[in-house]
Amino acid sequence: MSGVVSCRVPGKINLDLSVGPVREDGYHELSTVFHAVSVYDRVTVQLADRWSVHVSGPYADRVPTDDTNLALVAARTLARRRPRGLRLSPVRIDIDKQIPVAGGMAGGSADAAGALVACRELWGLDHVENDLLEEIAAGLGSDVPFLLHGGTAIGSGRGEQVTPVLARGELHWVLWAGEGLGLSTPAVYAECDRLRAEQGRRVDPPQPSGELMTALRRMDPEAVAEHLHNDLQEAAVSLRPILAEVLEVGLDLGARAGIVSGSGPTVAFLVGTQAQAIDLSVGLAANGPKGDILRAVGPAAGAALVQWRASA
Ligand code: C5P
Repeated sequence: MSGVVSCRVPGKINLDLSVGPVREDGYHELSTVFHAVSVYDRVTVQLADRWSVHVSGPYADRVPTDDTNLALVAARTLARRRPRGLRLSPVRIDIDKQIPVAGGMAGGSADAAGALVACRELWGLDHVENDLLEEIAAGLGSDVPFLLHGGTAIGSGRGEQVTPVLARGELHWVLWAGEGLGLSTPAVYAECDRLRAEQGRRVDPPQPSGELMTALRRMDPEAVAEHLHNDLQEAAVSLRPILAEVLEVGLDLGARAGIVSGSGPTVAFLVGTQAQAIDLSVGLAANGPKGDILRAVGPAAGAALVQWRASA
């Protein structure tokens, strides 16, 4: 049990996010279509004298490195599932942070998924099968199980119950992540509830979109564009009105569709080809509100080991 283990893990967007009523545990019942995209964090773990987490990359300064870091919480939670009598060394975790932080792309959850997969390998916890890893993941956060899977998948319950969706081919995305706009997920759900109450709207049980499933099965980007939907979008725009402008500029520049990702504020634009993605990202950089612009392809694979180097 020594060496360095590294795991690559993608961010996600939601192609459909249908938010139902609030449950007794305070979570909202969801039906969502997760879609992993090719923006990756890298989580590297190695044995150490004490637990620690270190973050590099463009968003490093926005990631906590104390006990609240979700990758650290994930590693410690997994360590508690060791076989009786086995002593495990603490780990040092290094995160190369490329997924926007507090952006609705589940970057923190991605790091947790990456830490689980990397630490299982590092510690040689062969008894931790995928089912158990998923159970631990669900306890860490609603999006963590999906990031173990990747691809395109329906999320139900509070998002933690994941069923893969058959989706052929690739979708090209341009992502806009506003600087310093980060939104807290609970605040966006609360705003959604507030708007619904204010408008006296009935909240129905969440439903997966049959039209979107058909579009994904056929991998018909125009039909996918038509059926992108996010119940949290209005709340995210209400809290960050600049998102309305971002969406308008992207659509004016020729995106097939634009949608706020999850609880936002990242905005995902769907385009037809890689060339169109380049054109749109150049146009957005020149004409859109200030933000980071990333190009990505989906579906991307979930958390995967990329390196295992045994030390002497
Ligand atoms: O599960 P996770 O820790 O990612 O959730 C963060 C917060 O988002 C929750 O505390 C809750 O306020 C909100 N949430 C929700 N319903 C969900 C998922 C998240 O209300 N299905």
